[in-house]
Amino acid sequence: MDMDKLVSLCKRRGFIFPSSEIYGGLNGFWDYGPLGVELKRNIKDAWWRDNITLRDDMVGIDCSIIMNPKVWEASGHVGGFSDPMVDCRATKERYRADQMYVFVARHPRPNEKGEPVETWFAGLGASPEDAAEVPNKKTAKLSRRYGTPEVAPTIIPYLQVDPADRVKVVGPSTDEPGTLTEPRSFNLMFKTFVGALESESNVAYLRPETAQGIFANFKNVVDTGRVKIPFGIAQVGKSFRNEINPRNFTFRSREFEQMEIEFFCHPSQATEWYAYWRKARFQWYVDHGIKSDRLRLRDHDPDELAFYSTATADIEYSFPFGVSELEGIAHRGDYDLSQHQKFSGKDLTYFDEEKKERYLPHVIEPSAGADRATLAFLCEAYEEDQVAGETRTVLKFHPRFAPIKAAVFPLVKRDGMPEMAEKIYRDLKRHFNVFLDEKGAIGRRYRRQDEAGTPFGITVDGQTIADGTVTFRDRDSCRQWRVPSANVVQAVRDLLEGQAVPAGPGRAEPSPSSSEEVG
Ligand code: GAP
Repeated sequence: MDMDKLVSLCKRRGFIFPSSEIYGGLNGFWDYGPLGVELKRNIKDAWWRDNITLRDDMVGIDCSIIMNPKVWEASGHVGGFSDPMVDCRATKERYRADQMYVFVARHPRPNEKGEPVETWFAGLGASPEDAAEVPNKKTAKLSRRYGTPEVAPTIIPYLQVDPADRVKVVGPSTDEPGTLTEPRSFNLMFKTFVGALESESNVAYLRPETAQGIFANFKNVVDTGRVKIPFGIAQVGKSFRNEINPRNFTFRSREFEQMEIEFFCHPSQATEWYAYWRKARFQWYVDHGIKSDRLRLRDHDPDELAFYSTATADIEYSFPFGVSELEGIAHRGDYDLSQHQKFSGKDLTYFDEEKKERYLPHVIEPSAGADRATLAFLCEAYEEDQVAGETRTVLKFHPRFAPIKAAVFPLVKRDGMPEMAEKIYRDLKRHFNVFLDEKGAIGRRYRRQDEAGTPFGITVDGQTIADGTVTFRDRDSCRQWRVPSANVVQAVRDLLEGQAVPAGPGRAEPSPSSSEEVG
């Protein structure tokens, strides 16, 4: 699937727009349009229902985005939440040093002093393969004098280039070597000031994750007396990271939503709960339509693990731009609670009344991104297929996620059809997000809803007037069947709850370019 096509569909149909686009946008920020907001909300609601509402061992919370800055000292974000950055003195651009790779090109002719001529040029990419796609423009000027170079097969991560050799490197957007600064740490948290004074003592941060609000409220939730270990606290909300290199549409944004769970358990049960969440979270994506061969669970190598974590796994999805993280499941031990205990001076231990045991619970953290999940479900849903001899673009969303659940069409604008369609639309709208479309050839109206991902179409046609039935149409198979108009609400409910589309060939799909059925 071509990412550009998806981005353009998202813009055209009102799923996702660049933020403040009329002013040229802002890198790393996105807005969800009328269809996108429904899609993302359906994903968040499904996550909440499956992980909180339907369970006995989960509760929710909604914390403030700006918290006491000590939270971020305790969590390690003030000291450690940083990426190594390199600035280009010539262009003033800033790059993530860990996403820069160096290629050495050797020219066949020596320079005037008889020395070999080499170009060391830096390419940008999340992986060496990405960076290798950077065209070798840098060597063009030198090639005229010293001949076409041969690029050495070894690609060197920039951070592994000997500091003495870094002056030779030509930055990603210059032609001259030696313009890059030494790598420096750059904290990813957005800073702000609370109150009127812009002084150091008033500094606060926009939260870079929702997790810490949960830990900071652990004692409050336990003290309300509703929960007993093992139990989890969930939160959905905005997080902010001043990402150096926002990229791949909404995949890496500077403002995004997370859906996080901190599951608290007895230390002796933590391994079991880790295994449980690792499996359950993977299955959630499969159950909602992501084909398992496009998903993988990648266990972190021991040298990738944070020092306090005994195990972490990423659920990765094969996006069109590469296999990348969708969600992380981490066994965090008692690290977070012990840090907050230390920094706040408050006792955060849990007392088990039955066993008369006091301990600091261990934590399993399934941490997902609502925007990344939305992007993955969009990528997975996007298809181009052949219907009635023409290529159609269709978003095959799981019905639970579809922004519009059904569209109602009067076949023509006469014979009482618009009035009947309006009544069916009003009845349905009390239960589901539905759409009434009266304009254009019926085939074209079907295609518009296919692009919006609407799973079912309901057409009021000539037969409706005769026998009171309407045509139901399935988005994925284009199969059609008839349903009494009085049963439409129940029929839509049954289909949304998973009832199979009736078998059989159905009626032939009208071509979108046919104009015989114009309303
Ligand atoms: N509390 C743990 C935590 O925040 P993370 O791996 O940094 O872990 C969890 O983030 C999830 O949040 C990621 O798997 C991803 O889905 C989402 N996420 C993180 N950074 C993001 C960004 N810049 N843009 C969009 N989503 C992001």
